[in-house]
Amino acid sequence: MAANDNELWWASETFWKKTTIWTTAVMFLVLVGLTLDTMSQIQVGGKRVPAYSAINHRIDYKMDESRHAQVPVIGIEEPLFGKKLTEQEAEALVDHGKLTMHAKNCMDCHTILGNGAYYAPDLTKAWLDPYWGSRGVREELMVAFIKDPTDKIHNSLGRRMPNLGVTDTEAHAVVAYLKWMSTIDTNGFPNNFKPIDQEN
Ligand code: HEC
Repeated sequence: MAANDNELWWASETFWKKTTIWTTAVMFLVLVGLTLDTMSQIQVGGKRVPAYSAINHRIDYKMDESRHAQVPVIGIEEPLFGKKLTEQEAEALVDHGKLTMHAKNCMDCHTILGNGAYYAPDLTKAWLDPYWGSRGVREELMVAFIKDPTDKIHNSLGRRMPNLGVTDTEAHAVVAYLKWMSTIDTNGFPNNFKPIDQEN
């Protein structure tokens, strides 16, 4: 339709063209801003994802009333398997654990950060599961469970995890990965998680 003086301004084609261009441009800038903000939150060593060497420390999980969510607190030095690692060593170990979980397809049954399958428990905070008993035995119990989980049922699902042929070295790496995973501030996911008592 050709423009004429009697046309309503909000019904004109040029008005809607301009509006579209401006909206797209503004939303593009908003998207760039959100992306930069997200990057700073999810980068290792960033706001929500601690450095790999966090596995050298005790990980507590405390209620933050102002956020209405449980948040991880990196506490005193408490090296995994009694061995303090450098940032590079910790990264290599956590990486190995992650790759093992990919290679063994753990996400066929489990979720991490909510991604995966819903047959078995979410593993984001598995490191803090009270099932692993006290602080002193926790890491060895986890290694033993991952190497041979058959007949070690400990939850109310009534489901069992099969033996996936995970080696001793791989199981240690998986535990490092899960400990590091528990340090991530996930806005309280999974909800209502009851963590292990760190003082025992
Ligand atoms: C065939 C399905 C299946 C696969 C594949 C599987 N799991 Fe499991 N897993 C389970 C089930 C079911 C449970 C709960 C068993 C129980 O409570 O005794 C479980 C429990 C666990 C737990 C304890 C969780 C907690 O919160 O205490 C860990 C840790 C774990 N699995 C790690 C792994 C890892 C690592 C892999 C890959 C190497 C893996 N799982 C692959 C089914 C599976």
